[in-house]
Amino acid sequence: MSIENVGIVGWRGMVGSVLLERMRAEGDFAGLTTTFYSTSQVGQDGPDMGEGSLPLGDAYDVSGLAKHQVVITCQGGDYTKQVLPQLREGGWDGFWIDAASAKRMDEDSIIVLDPLNRERIESGIQSGVKNYIGGNCTVSLMLLALHGLFREDLIEWMTCMTYQAASGGGARHMRELVEQMGTLHAGSADLLADPATNIIPIDTQVTETLRSDAMPTENFGAPLAASLLPWIDSAQPLGDTREEWKAFAEGNKILGRPADAQIPIDSLCVRVGAMRCHSQAFTIKLRKDVPMDEIEPMLDGANDWVHLVPNDKETTLQQLTPTAVTGTLDIPVGRVRKMRLGNDYLAAFTVGDQLLWGAAEPLRRTLSILRELQG
Ligand code: HSE
Repeated sequence: MSIENVGIVGWRGMVGSVLLERMRAEGDFAGLTTTFYSTSQVGQDGPDMGEGSLPLGDAYDVSGLAKHQVVITCQGGDYTKQVLPQLREGGWDGFWIDAASAKRMDEDSIIVLDPLNRERIESGIQSGVKNYIGGNCTVSLMLLALHGLFREDLIEWMTCMTYQAASGGGARHMRELVEQMGTLHAGSADLLADPATNIIPIDTQVTETLRSDAMPTENFGAPLAASLLPWIDSAQPLGDTREEWKAFAEGNKILGRPADAQIPIDSLCVRVGAMRCHSQAFTIKLRKDVPMDEIEPMLDGANDWVHLVPNDKETTLQQLTPTAVTGTLDIPVGRVRKMRLGNDYLAAFTVGDQLLWGAAEPLRRTLSILRELQG
């Protein structure tokens, strides 16, 4: 039965807005009847996707949601945990496409990243899997960047050292980062205005402001601007954080690795003062010594979004930064070189927009795959 009837929940938030923007840009709404749901503005006008705007449905009205063949949600994990079981208990067997992490590791879910696991998504659809969940942003961006090496099964183990943007925390975190920057500048503007001022008093002033109550830190819990925060998400038993554990757990699930052939992937995840691009530095232990002239073409163009950035300063600063990548679907991978550790050790660095390929894009593409397969 062809997919014609979709409900979307959580569309006003940051990921939801980017999702709608992408769906509009790709013409995804054509041929679909789309109902938008809200947890707080039921009955008000919904967004107009080209066919007039309909009143917003109640996101907790399970019987309303159950009328859809597909529900897409960017509403968050608590919503998923509350509403999805009720829908399923009521006999709904529609497709649930979700940005939140709540169901990612469940056996009845597939983590979607179709450039790498389209076959698993298709066979899941054919065999009756109903839950399709977007992966963690750093994990999806890492897999897209190193797609060529995973495809050749060349990675024996690896580490991901991340430099994650404020947007990973949420919209309020992005605002807080900019406010922190403004507070720092305001505190030292007088000194800066005089080009003759020595840098030491300027630094002293910035440090005083950083350590003062003037810094807005309600969301991050500490200053991020002019600093960094080496802790993301909750603690795990091994001393890592949940964000760090995800690269291993989700990464191997997306790759479809069996329990006895998991690739050890370990991470150290750090929040930095970028807006919405996550960056990552990799140390990769290759299974064998593969020459660079084979590795480079393997990485470059492994999917339609990844491209190799030549390892020189000028191109790196032009192409391999959050500034260059933000707002695009590009996945540049650069600083690729053999390490002093040995010829089977590879270094690489990547940047990706965590709201696009890191969140919204896999969801809209899953809907497209469903529509293709369901006729
Ligand atoms: N957990 C990620 C972060 C974002 O905090 O940056 C969502 O995947």
